[in-house]
Amino acid sequence: MFPSASLFAFTLLAVAYGQQVGTNTAETHPPLTWQQCTTSGCTAQSASVVLDSNWRWTHTTDGFTNCYTGNTWDASLCPDGDTCAANCALDGADYQGTYGITTSDDALTLKFVTTGANKNVGSRVYLMAAGSESEYQIFNPLNQEFTFDVDVSGLPCGLNGALYFVEMSADGGMSAYPTNKAGAQYGTGYCDAQCPRDIKFIDGTANVDGWAPSDSDPNAGTGNMGTCCNEMDIWEANSISSAVTPHACTVEGQTACTGDDCSAPGSTGGVCDQSGCDFNSFRMGDTSFYGPGMTVDTGSTFTVVTQFVTADNTSTGALSAIRRLYVQNGEVIQQSMSQIDGVTPTNEITADFCTEQKAAFGDTDTFTQKGGMDGMGAAFSRGMVLVMSIWDDHEAQMLWLDSDYPLDKDASEPGVARGTCSTDSGAPTDVESASANAQVVFSNIRFGDIGSTFDSSAAARRK
Ligand SMILES: *[C@@H]1O[C@H](CO)[C@@H](O)[C@H](O)[C@H]1NC(C)=O
Repeated sequence: MFPSASLFAFTLLAVAYGQQVGTNTAETHPPLTWQQCTTSGCTAQSASVVLDSNWRWTHTTDGFTNCYTGNTWDASLCPDGDTCAANCALDGADYQGTYGITTSDDALTLKFVTTGANKNVGSRVYLMAAGSESEYQIFNPLNQEFTFDVDVSGLPCGLNGALYFVEMSADGGMSAYPTNKAGAQYGTGYCDAQCPRDIKFIDGTANVDGWAPSDSDPNAGTGNMGTCCNEMDIWEANSISSAVTPHACTVEGQTACTGDDCSAPGSTGGVCDQSGCDFNSFRMGDTSFYGPGMTVDTGSTFTVVTQFVTADNTSTGALSAIRRLYVQNGEVIQQSMSQIDGVTPTNEITADFCTEQKAAFGDTDTFTQKGGMDGMGAAFSRGMVLVMSIWDDHEAQMLWLDSDYPLDKDASEPGVARGTCSTDSGAPTDVESASANAQVVFSNIRFGDIGSTFDSSAAARRK
């Protein structure tokens, strides 16, 4: 995600396991069915989703005193990270009542603002392995395709309903860091290519050192520690704009960083590529492809297909292309073609596309520097966890997705215009009040052999 994936509000209810486990509320993972497909058919997987630990009530192991309130750690319970992790517990979640998360068969709905005992903003969930309460599902997308249906009609400017892969540990880091007693069951172990520093527990310790409450977010802050890993953004979108974006890192698996050694936007420092190699149709010059009433009509549900093509058409080959197509109203719609001077016309992400696009837009090519397509493919072969989230953006108002960005460049310069949203849209205070009822629905997730997850013979092919 770009520029920051760390945008949420935590509720402050009382429940419990920091890195221990609390028992005020039973942790019941909402069930979610998905399909594993081969060329001979699909098989239903009875799985579930789990809420990320950062959203959970963090309280004393032996009672219900908050370890973390608003955006501040309790100084006596949390004088340092290790003491805090021993003293504090993460509790179970009331998924619907507190966080606005519901599932029905194969559909997941994430609501934006939920006002229960406290106000909750956004959420992030992970897909558990079928039949497991303690391990995330691990995907190797090489020579496979990932398909889902999405309804973005309830996502205005400034919001992001995201579906992506990150290279988290299957157990949330529990075996590598034994002071983490909560594990994947409580949604621990998050990492991404922004190396987010707003994560409260990393590697079995609390991110207490250097914690600075956010100026703008009453529920978030940043500590000295960040948590980095390879990230494949299959889908970052609202009803106005969408992007598909690989982000490579030089590290394998979830890896903690400290202070300035964590990545910074546009910087060649750190271990991860924060900007990514994005394909956003609008930014690539086709301004009538994606949106309300457009070729892909965001006014109603559609299917998103993403193919991870390898050089030798095997699951051990090098990642050579990331292809996107859509299906809507029975019609297969190919991704729009790039119309940018200096970029060879294409509608897929390849190593050449990335270097040409970065040059055409005058962007630093941190994607290639941090490993590029080869690095992304290597991460795939080690295995990726599926994330789904809804969020707003305290750093950049989501302008990088749906408006003109950065603001100090003229919108007519190549790569600046990304969507039709106003440059003053997307401020969290505005969207959290005006669009509190926003939501995204992800459904009918299918994964498997290329061509096996959707009807490619759909009568009318387009483009
Ligand atoms: C991989 O598959 C594609 C499409 O089916 C084909 O055009 C290409 O030649 C294959 N490549 C190799 C190396 O087998």
